[in-house]
Amino acid sequence: MAATTVLAFDVYGTLIDTHGVVTELEARLGRSGKEGMAAEFSRRWRDKQLEYSFRRGLMGAYVPFGQCTREALDFTDRALQAQLADVDKEHLMAVYARLPAFPEATEALARLSAAGMRCVAFSNGTFEAVDGLLEQAGLRERFEDVISVDEVKRFKPDPAVYAYLRNRLDVAPGDTWLISSNPFDVIGARHAGLHAAWVRRSLDAPFDPWGIEPDLTVPDLVALANRLG
Ligand code: LAC
Repeated sequence: MAATTVLAFDVYGTLIDTHGVVTELEARLGRSGKEGMAAEFSRRWRDKQLEYSFRRGLMGAYVPFGQCTREALDFTDRALQAQLADVDKEHLMAVYARLPAFPEATEALARLSAAGMRCVAFSNGTFEAVDGLLEQAGLRERFEDVISVDEVKRFKPDPAVYAYLRNRLDVAPGDTWLISSNPFDVIGARHAGLHAAWVRRSLDAPFDPWGIEPDLTVPDLVALANRLG
């Protein structure tokens, strides 16, 4: 691996566990006897958040990712007829800003840094949102920079955001790796000429059959450190 290799980590779902909100959802939904739908609510919220980012990208109607998250929360509440109060939604958004890191992230990042890799965070989230999220999760000091799509007002997997990442890093495309649990992100990076590793956190997780494959597939970030470190 070249000395200048940069690893650009996706944030939501890769470093940070977006389903960490399930316990809070159980409590809030429990008030109307609907705590059993918390896992489904969390999954649909996340899926709708991404769909909104894709659609807004296609429409050229960019908004900060947090707005996609909030509008997806409102939609999911409607779709599942959960009838969450505004105060509950505000609380859930606050929880989203302090989601936990996946348990192996700290060790993996320490090992990759020790092996000479440059690590940056690269996210749909705004700089402020991601900077704060990583800080409270205890991961911020592991990254030399936080690079946000907000600086180009497009969302992943628009090729413009991967081109922006490359320009910001000032290293050859072949020395830049995108690390992500999201297949659409991995394919976007590969399409834009970067290397990409897929963090396949669940054995049930399928990859899109587009004929564009990850360079590397690992079950978690420690396995990534074992392969690249
Ligand atoms: C991100 C989302 C796509 O952090 O997971 O960019």
